[in-house]
Amino acid sequence: MTTAYLAAEGFADQLHEELRRAGVVVRRQHERLLICEGAAVASAWAANIWHDCVELPAASIGGAAQALRAIQRNWAMYAPLHHRRASLIQERLPHVSAKPIVFPAPAPVAPLGSWTLLAPDCLLAAAQCSSPFANGEVAFVEDKTGPPNRAYLKLWEALVRLRRWPVRGECCLDLGASPGGWTWALARLGAEVVAVDKAPLDPRVAALPGVRWQGESAFALEPNSIGPVDWLFCDVVCYPSRLLRLVEKWRASGFVKNIVCTLKFQGATDHDTAAAFAAIPGARLVHLHHNKHELTFFPRSD
Ligand SMILES: C[S@@+](CC[C@H](N)C(=O)[O-])C[C@H]1O[C@@H](n2cnc3c(N)ncnc32)[C@H](O)[C@@H]1O
Repeated sequence: MTTAYLAAEGFADQLHEELRRAGVVVRRQHERLLICEGAAVASAWAANIWHDCVELPAASIGGAAQALRAIQRNWAMYAPLHHRRASLIQERLPHVSAKPIVFPAPAPVAPLGSWTLLAPDCLLAAAQCSSPFANGEVAFVEDKTGPPNRAYLKLWEALVRLRRWPVRGECCLDLGASPGGWTWALARLGAEVVAVDKAPLDPRVAALPGVRWQGESAFALEPNSIGPVDWLFCDVVCYPSRLLRLVEKWRASGFVKNIVCTLKFQGATDHDTAAAFAAIPGARLVHLHHNKHELTFFPRSD
C-alpha cells in the first residue's frame, strides 16, 4: 500500500521528522509530496494525506484524464514535475469549484481526489484524501473592516473543518484574545465571549454585544472562577508545553465542552509536545492553511 503526504508549504522538514518518529518509510519525494510505504498514519504537518495511492498509465493526455474520470469526478492536481503535461490533463477533468467560503459554512463533503505525474507516462492518484480542499488550501471571503487583524481566518478554518461553531448564546472563553480577531469572529456568531488578555481589546471589538474583557493572565485563571463554558479558545503566545498543561487543567475540570487552541513554536518545533496533543482522545492536531509555524488543536468532527 502507498500513502502520500503533501507537506504544508514550508514545513516539509517537520513532516519528515513526524513520519520518521512514526516509523514511516519515505520512498520518494517530489518537492512537498512524500510518497511512503504503508497505510496512512495521523500527521499534523501534512496539508493533505493521499490514501491508498494507485499508479495509472498516462501514455496520452486524453487517456490519463479518462482513467481519472473513471474513478470519480473531482480531482486536484499537485504537479511539481511535468507541470505543463499535468495541466493539460487537469484541463480535461471536470472543473472543481474553489470559490472562497463565506463563513459560517461546513467544509465540502464531495469526494476530492489528488493526483500527480510521477513520469510523463505514469500518474499517481488517490481517490480518498484527508483534506476536503485541493492541496489543503482554503480561502475565505474576508472581512476587511470588522476584525482588527487576520487571525480570525485560522479560527474560521478550524471551525469549518470541525463542521461546527459556537451558536447564539453559547459561552466562549477566549484566552490570549487581544487585539480581538477571534473574539470578533465569536461575537459575530452571537456567542457570549469572555476575552482574557493582559492587553486590551481593540475598542471596536470590546464594544460588541456579548463581549467582556478580563485583564489577567490566562495561566492564572482557575476553571472554578469561570464555571462551565461551551468553548475554550486559546491563541496565547507561549511554549507548547505550557499550553499542554493549561489544556490538561481545563480538561480535568470537566467544565469545558470544546477546546480549540494554537500551538505556537518559537524556534525549533517541539515534536514531543505536538505528539502529546495529538494523543488526546477525541481531538485532532492539524497544520491549517492559515497557520504559520503553528498547529491547531480542535475536536474531531466524526
Ligand atoms: C497572537 S496574539 C492573539 C491574537 C488573537 N487571537 C486575535 O485574534 O486577535 C497572542 C496574545 O497572547 C497574549 N498573551 C501572552 N501571554 C499571555 C498570558 N499569560 N495570558 C493571557 N494572554 C497572554 C498577548 O498579549 C497577545 O495578545
